[in-house]
Amino acid sequence: MTSLSEKIKETAAFLKEKGMTEPEFGLILGSGLGELASEIENAVSLDYADIPNWGRSTVVGHAGKLVYGDLAGRKVLALQGRFHFYEGNPLDIVTFPVRVMKALGATGVIVTNAAGGIGYGPGTLMAITDHINMTGQNPLIGENLDEFGPRFPDMSKSYTPEYRAVAHKVADKLGIKLDEGVYIGVTGPTYETPAEIRAYKTLGADAVGMSTVPEVIVAAHSGLKVLGISCITNFAAGFQEELNHEEVVEVTERVKGDFKRLLKETLAEL
Ligand code: HPA
Repeated sequence: MTSLSEKIKETAAFLKEKGMTEPEFGLILGSGLGELASEIENAVSLDYADIPNWGRSTVVGHAGKLVYGDLAGRKVLALQGRFHFYEGNPLDIVTFPVRVMKALGATGVIVTNAAGGIGYGPGTLMAITDHINMTGQNPLIGENLDEFGPRFPDMSKSYTPEYRAVAHKVADKLGIKLDEGVYIGVTGPTYETPAEIRAYKTLGADAVGMSTVPEVIVAAHSGLKVLGISCITNFAAGFQEELNHEEVVEVTERVKGDFKRLLKETLAEL
């Protein structure tokens, strides 16, 4: 069986050969924001199905394309549709794109998601300051890939403070309100129970979601800088009558104009 390390090398070589040669930033775009990838200029685009060792996207609203090119004057490699653990993907697959971004020479990643607000309400954009891993999983379990990073990675500053400072400066300039807080990552696919949300609030979480934590752990392991931004799409369970995916999609649609402007301008200044 091919090792993870060999698969990363194989996929990176394949993407290089297709012209995805020198990304500075990886973009992992959550629900509704995938269309930012269609603003990439001089784009080289590949369907996930055509990339060796790559996962498959199954969620409605996630396109399943890898797009490379210029955005806001930077070379980016964008995931239009990420992989979730709740889809049945092993964490090796969920985090594989981050490894490949690193292998291709990226220095930073921007990660976005939709999240439930614990305090914050629908429509809020929240820069992630830190996370709580509530998944009971860790993508680094197993043999350590020494060429990427250490066995016991430091997570003290996994959401890069300098990147966040730039995002706040840009948000101020654009007149976009950007809050900040702690993201608690769960596996899903169920939304949480009200009792779980009360517990997470006590633990110090400001937002809850079903992605991001595995990708950021792998990014931190390999020394990639990270900017994480959540779009709060609903009050978390117990703070509103009921939860549904339609509301998540609807609020993302409503906020995406500001979200895209913020991301592009921030990217230009990172
Ligand atoms: N919980 C978990 N994930 C989410 C939520 C939520 O309330 N909203 C959007 N993604």
